[in-house]
Amino acid sequence: MDYKYDFTSIMDRHGKDAYAYDGVGGNKWHTEPKPPKDGFDFIPMWVADMNFPTCPAVTDAIIERAKHPAYGYFDIPDNWYESIIRWRQGAPSDADCTTPHAGLKREHIGYENGVHGFVTSAVRVLTRPGENILLHSPNYVGFRSDTWGQGRNCVFSPLVLDAQGIWRMDLSDMARKIEENDIHVMIFCSPQNPSGRVWERGELEAMMKVLEKYRVDVICDEIWADLTFEGHPHVPLQDVSPYAREHVLAAYAPGKTFNVAGLVSAYHIIYDDELRRKVTQEGEQTNYNSMNVLSMHAMCGGYSETGREWLHELNSVLEGNGSYAMDFMQEHFAGILAARPQGTYMMWLDLSEYLETSGRTLDEVIRAGWDVGVGWQSGVQFEGPAHIRLNLASPLSMIQEAFERMRKHVFL
Ligand SMILES: Cc1ncc(COP(=O)(O)O)c(C=O)c1O
Repeated sequence: MDYKYDFTSIMDRHGKDAYAYDGVGGNKWHTEPKPPKDGFDFIPMWVADMNFPTCPAVTDAIIERAKHPAYGYFDIPDNWYESIIRWRQGAPSDADCTTPHAGLKREHIGYENGVHGFVTSAVRVLTRPGENILLHSPNYVGFRSDTWGQGRNCVFSPLVLDAQGIWRMDLSDMARKIEENDIHVMIFCSPQNPSGRVWERGELEAMMKVLEKYRVDVICDEIWADLTFEGHPHVPLQDVSPYAREHVLAAYAPGKTFNVAGLVSAYHIIYDDELRRKVTQEGEQTNYNSMNVLSMHAMCGGYSETGREWLHELNSVLEGNGSYAMDFMQEHFAGILAARPQGTYMMWLDLSEYLETSGRTLDEVIRAGWDVGVGWQSGVQFEGPAHIRLNLASPLSMIQEAFERMRKHVFL
């Protein structure tokens, strides 16, 4: 593929408000990588943002608006809703769907200050303190504060690597846990962080049948929906059955898609009027859930033809990085299990066998990587006790350098 946009130059983010770099050696999250030893530069493979410049249409939209020197109170313009409807309905889909989110209207959409905040609001609306919530493991670390942080309990159903090397959910395990723990709410991530799995329609339909049987509502985090690879289109969970349409509360954001998490913006799609009213009210109660004018223009800039063209190239680059990483590991690293990513820019490594045979601890391995600038993240916070999460959203040359360092200095 000939690329129109630049995904190969290395962007210097030092001193440019990037926790991926500035947080090294820090203690805000208690999980920050330590600085590398002398002679090694730091390669960020932890915080879930990208070392690529955003789409030029995003930057242009911010600059254009910033030129007008008044940034006072404003109401959400029609264009914001229209951009979302066009973008979601124009997303690549699978053969069984002509238009994703068919029938989506502006009244189904509501602003959220981040998908993380939306999940917290939805948890507070749908459950009471002390209740059990079903999640897959591994999962996104923020779900900890969305659940335990709100006084709710998590019940985990582990994903399983099948014989084809694909992470699968275990429906009988989920059904058993729902019954045993009196569960009526699930938090679901689609595509899945950190496994890089893009769920197929058939899997989603089967899951929703189980959840319908037990009358479970789903808080569905689809923040990664735009980052999917060839042959793995994202299927919105709300599209798979009439029950899903009414009982799934979904959220999306431009943050991962365009590398604009620092601008803060997200939105929910909730088709059921009563659920939407309650989630909106919960978010509004804090008085913090309101939009930033520059971030609003940024999203509308990205949700455009240029944005779609840029995203197509980005996904091809991310797919290439995932394939490079998978091939390298299969060739050089024994005892480490992983799946070829189908989307996102995350890769999930299972080191159980390697730790057993090498006699090393996960901490020792992680530390050995940090020493040589491989800025990866322990899987423990993502419910993976012998696991590592890797962020592959950097120019391929940086990913190659990181894997060479792992080969030479970590997995000797
Ligand atoms: C699955 C998932 N949900 C939510 C978030 C955070 O979303 P936001 O920045 O919109 O709160 C992340 C960030 O990594 C994520 O991976």
